[in-house]
Amino acid sequence: MRPIRILFVCLGNICRSPIAESVFMHRAKENGVAGYVQVDSAGTGDWHLGDLPDGRALVTLDKHGLETEHLGRQVSVADFTTFDYIFGMDKANVRDLRRVAPDNATAEIHLFLSFGDEASVEVPDPYYGTSQDFDDVFELVSRGSEEFLAYLRRTGKLVTNG
Ligand code: 4NP
Repeated sequence: MRPIRILFVCLGNICRSPIAESVFMHRAKENGVAGYVQVDSAGTGDWHLGDLPDGRALVTLDKHGLETEHLGRQVSVADFTTFDYIFGMDKANVRDLRRVAPDNATAEIHLFLSFGDEASVEVPDPYYGTSQDFDDVFELVSRGSEEFLAYLRRTGKLVTNG
C-alpha cells in the first residue's frame, strides 16, 4: 500500500510549513499511522532555498520536544503529480499554488485548516511577528493535523489508499 503523500506549503518555507511538517508527522506517530503517510514542505517563494528553518520556528518545535532538519525549497511542477495533498497555510498560498499547478496536476490543493468544523482557518505568517505568533502557529497546525488525520480515518483513505 502506497503511503499518502502530503506537502505543506507556505511563503518562505522557513516558518509555518516546516513546523507543520514536523508536527503532522509527530501526530501521525502518536496516532499509529506514521507508516501510512509521507510528508515534505516547500515555499511558494524562492528566498530561502537550502536554508534551515527560522531559529524561532526551531525554538517553538523544541519547546514541544520536536525538531526538523528541513532545508528550504520552492514548490516545483513535479510536486503536483508526486503528492496526493498540497496544503497552503493561508489563502494567498492556496491562490499561488493553484496559479502554478500544471494542467496534469493530480494533487488535491487545499487550505490546511479546512477539514474541521470551522471552515477556512488560515495559519497567519509569523515572520514579522513575535514568539507568541510562533506559538499560535504551533497550536493551529496541531489542530489542522488532528483534523486532517480524523478526515483520513473517517473517509477510509488511510486503509484503502493504493
Ligand atoms: P513562512 O514565513 O512563509 O511561514 O516561512 C516567511 C518566511 C520568510 C519570508 C516571508 C514569510 N520572507 O519574506 O523572506
